[in-house]
Amino acid sequence: MAQSRLERMIARLVAQRAWLDRAAALIEGTPGIVLEIGLGKGRTWDHLRTILPGRDIYAFDRALHAPAACTPSVDHLFLGDFRDTLPLTRERFGPTAALAHADFGSEEAAHDAEQARWLGPLLDGLMREGGIVIADRPFEVPGWHPLAGSGAGEWPYWGWSIRRSERRAHLLRE
Ligand SMILES: C[S@@+](CC[C@H](N)C(=O)[O-])C[C@H]1O[C@@H](n2cnc3c(N)ncnc32)[C@H](O)[C@@H]1O
Repeated sequence: MAQSRLERMIARLVAQRAWLDRAAALIEGTPGIVLEIGLGKGRTWDHLRTILPGRDIYAFDRALHAPAACTPSVDHLFLGDFRDTLPLTRERFGPTAALAHADFGSEEAAHDAEQARWLGPLLDGLMREGGIVIADRPFEVPGWHPLAGSGAGEWPYWGWSIRRSERRAHLLRE
């Protein structure tokens, strides 16, 4: 039987919580800021701040849609297109993010694929070695190693460990 819209939403939220919890555990020994790419209604941002107390979490969105209780403080919120706000964030923080959660998917697959093409390199510029990226859409970025279970499950989610040094070592061996 086909899944209802309600069931798809439940699958999405269950997958998001599982990946957010897994990513938080993976960065336990990794210092650095956290990036929420797509604040939306603030659901996943609220979960991140609950499971990562003490981390600086910066949120990004084109416009503010979140209720006041799930809105970051003004110094942790970047409003505008990711293409404009992420390069400014890179200038300010450099590659210091331990975790990025990119939740930008829409119902238009072609649009999302094109967005992932330019968003991946922008995120890469902000990630520290050993950091973790998780996302609701696939990225292909050199030096990002897929975590087990990427793209699988009832509601696919993707995760990568940032290990650029391994890519460099591989290139030197070739
Ligand atoms: C799926 S929603 C995020 C949901 C959110 N994580 C939550 O749990 O409530 C995606 C968000 O990404 C934002 N977005 C998509 N593309 C963007 C872009 N190029 N620049 C800025 N924001 C963008 C949209 O405005 C939307 O609020």
